[in-house]
Amino acid sequence: MRAIVVRKFGATPEVADMPMPEPGPGTVRVQLAAAGVNPFDQRMATGFLNDTLPHDFPMILGVDGAGAIDSLGSGVHRFAVGDRVVGKFRTPPAGHGSFAEYAVVPEDATLVPIPAGVPTAAAAALPTAGGTAQDLVDATGIRPGQTVLIVGATGGVGSFLVQLANIAGAHVIATARGAGADRMTRLGAAETVDYTAGPIGDQLAARYPDGIDILFDLVSPPTALTTLTALVRGGGTVYSTIGSADEDVLRARDIKGGNLESTARAPELARLLQRVADGDLVVPIDATVPLAEGPAVIGASGARGKTVLTI
Ligand SMILES: NC(=O)c1ccc[n+]([C@@H]2O[C@H](COP(=O)([O-])OP(=O)(O)OC[C@H]3O[C@@H](n4cnc5c(N)ncnc54)[C@H](OP(=O)(O)O)[C@@H]3O)[C@@H](O)[C@H]2O)c1
Repeated sequence: MRAIVVRKFGATPEVADMPMPEPGPGTVRVQLAAAGVNPFDQRMATGFLNDTLPHDFPMILGVDGAGAIDSLGSGVHRFAVGDRVVGKFRTPPAGHGSFAEYAVVPEDATLVPIPAGVPTAAAAALPTAGGTAQDLVDATGIRPGQTVLIVGATGGVGSFLVQLANIAGAHVIATARGAGADRMTRLGAAETVDYTAGPIGDQLAARYPDGIDILFDLVSPPTALTTLTALVRGGGTVYSTIGSADEDVLRARDIKGGNLESTARAPELARLLQRVADGDLVVPIDATVPLAEGPAVIGASGARGKTVLTI
């Protein structure tokens, strides 16, 4: 089968012929039709989990994937051959991911049926980015009318987060540049701020003299996050998805939150899929790219929503 692999940490991803995986007890094999691309994929390729997980090489990349179950291992009872499913293909050892024609996962992994009416490619875009956005909203407990600034809003996580914060009743301020601003407004942002037009803090301090309630920051390194945190009033919340928050500093200012590591699994994914099926959540696919061209988009910057590989 064809798959996108790296042959060692730091190598350039390439399309390769790999052996067909066989499902063992308690696992299912999925014939993948689409796979969502995330910044995490590039980080896996460079070995950032080398100290945490065993890795198999050539390492098949990709976490998010969707398709149809094509074979069952013994003892599987939750799924049947032909079920359309979406999930996270990151069961250890690492290296058996979703950028492939087939992948095997335990039936109790993050794997859920795709509701009728939700396209397979849309489902494939959801697990990591949508799940992280859902985790941020759940961890914060947004109340209607609260002001929420989302920094890095135009990418995968942000494009879901703008919508979910808006659904929760927040007044959403999204960073965007150029044409990205209109897209953020259509997804539910009440205001946009162009981070290339000057420091965000300077642009918002005058508009919000009493401070904003919540900062979700998806891109800023620690120093920039500290600067932005000055916008948040005491009693507010700050979350970073890239480990930039100093929780002692936040507590000293009576600010909740910290560094969020997504723990979204099947229940959160099922909730997101239902929102999509109900028409409440748009899946912001910017580009669909054939698997053969996938190596060029892994680790690309300047995301406008999600990139999905078609397999
Ligand atoms: N902790 C976790 O569990 C977890 C889970 C998921 C993701 N993450 C991390 O969260 C980050 C965001 O993920 P993602 O999937 O949304 O990434 P993404 O799709 O690449 O989106 C990042 C977005 O930020 C924008 N951006 C870059 N620099 C910016 C700046 N200085 N100010 C405002 N916007 C800026 C980019 O567009 P422009 O450059 O064109 O502005 C892009 O639209 C990644 O680092 C990812 O690894 C962490």
